[in-house]
Amino acid sequence: MINIPKGCKDVLPAQSYKWQYIERVARETAASYGFREIRTPVFEHTELFSRGVGETTDVVTKEMYTFLDKGGRSITLRPEGTAGVARAFIENGLASEAMPFKAYYLCSAYRYERPQAGRLREFHQFGAELYGADGPAADAEVITLVDRFLKNLGLKKVSLHINSIGCPTCRAAYHEALKEYFRPHLSEMCEDCNARFEKNPMRIIDCKNEGCKKFTAHAPRAIDYLCEDCRAHFEGVKAYLDGAGVDYSVDPSIVRGLDYYTRTVFEFVTDAAGAQGTLLGGGRYDGLLSQLGAKPLPAVGFGVGLERLLMVMEAEGAPMPETGRVVCYLAGMDEAAKRRAFLLAEELRTAGVSSECDLMQRSLKAQMKYADKLGARFVAVIGEEELAGGFATVKDMLGSSSERVNFNDLAQYLSKR
Ligand code: HAM
Repeated sequence: MINIPKGCKDVLPAQSYKWQYIERVARETAASYGFREIRTPVFEHTELFSRGVGETTDVVTKEMYTFLDKGGRSITLRPEGTAGVARAFIENGLASEAMPFKAYYLCSAYRYERPQAGRLREFHQFGAELYGADGPAADAEVITLVDRFLKNLGLKKVSLHINSIGCPTCRAAYHEALKEYFRPHLSEMCEDCNARFEKNPMRIIDCKNEGCKKFTAHAPRAIDYLCEDCRAHFEGVKAYLDGAGVDYSVDPSIVRGLDYYTRTVFEFVTDAAGAQGTLLGGGRYDGLLSQLGAKPLPAVGFGVGLERLLMVMEAEGAPMPETGRVVCYLAGMDEAAKRRAFLLAEELRTAGVSSECDLMQRSLKAQMKYADKLGARFVAVIGEEELAGGFATVKDMLGSSSERVNFNDLAQYLSKR
């Protein structure tokens, strides 16, 4: 037997309504803020991610699915959605359109990680990106979108943590402070951190190595090194969130795992689903577009893993209304009745009522059992008498009543209920 690759998951028909529900709420919430969908390729040129996400990140150094295609090009399966959106924005000249640019996506993403609960190799993200607005209202709008999305899904045990990691101006002083702090401990720290020390000392704070964590816990915090503009921006974001009634706590330990962030960073965390505390993350990334060769343009966005979201929803017992069950099963007693049932099912579908009929040469009793398993709301039985009289005996599976309904009236009868 051939098994599914490690770290991937099938979404089976009995579960897919949960995904559809989350995706529907995602689309509706994004649309209510004026975000429209963008779709970009599953794979991009590797350079997009190494330049965009950052050479020193775990995502780029350890986790990318990279291969040479038959033309010898280095291709990478997208590890996240942000870089592809930026590439599409630049390549399609969208900077000439009305600003701010607002786009959301629901897409798969790929990271070669050690699989565990809420951490997969193929996962799915709902994300949104907003370009062109440099004021704190833009950060606050993206955060309120996320907050509203989680509330729309009925989540209660998630909390918002925000931080500011400054801009290149204040980052220089911060990097110096980090280097000074870490320098005496370098020999006791991992090889990766030694490389990070030279290239991007802030990445050290994100190290998962236990030996390094004891040093990172007391490292200088970016928030203490903000320049005047960054400090004012952060105060502005907090004021907008206060005004919108969005609860948050300032958490100076958030640095995020990707290199493109500037100023505001945020995460929604929860302990509802065990191991993976961070449900989602995002922030401002004013340097990414220019880093990819475009005119500088401020940007802010977020991304949430749908698998992680589903785990948290299940852990919290959040409602996920089931849709997609067939409305009417047409049971035929004999061959002639089954042929009529087949045609009636087509008529019902034309009228917008989902229906099924027997394809398995089952007895009436077995058809009734199947209809029950399907969860069909109605069963319309057609026997000899019904066929002769031009009606079906319709049983409401939620009650005990049965009614005779003319074939011609069946669609209307069922769609009214
Ligand atoms: P990220 O923090 O790397 O940010 O990922 C965002 C979310 O994707 C995570 O919080 C988690 O829910 C989910 N996720 C990440 N890796 C995995 C995995 N291996 N398995 C399951 N879920 C995972 C980004 O990706 C940024 N692009 C977010 C962003 C958009 N920032 C600005 N705009």
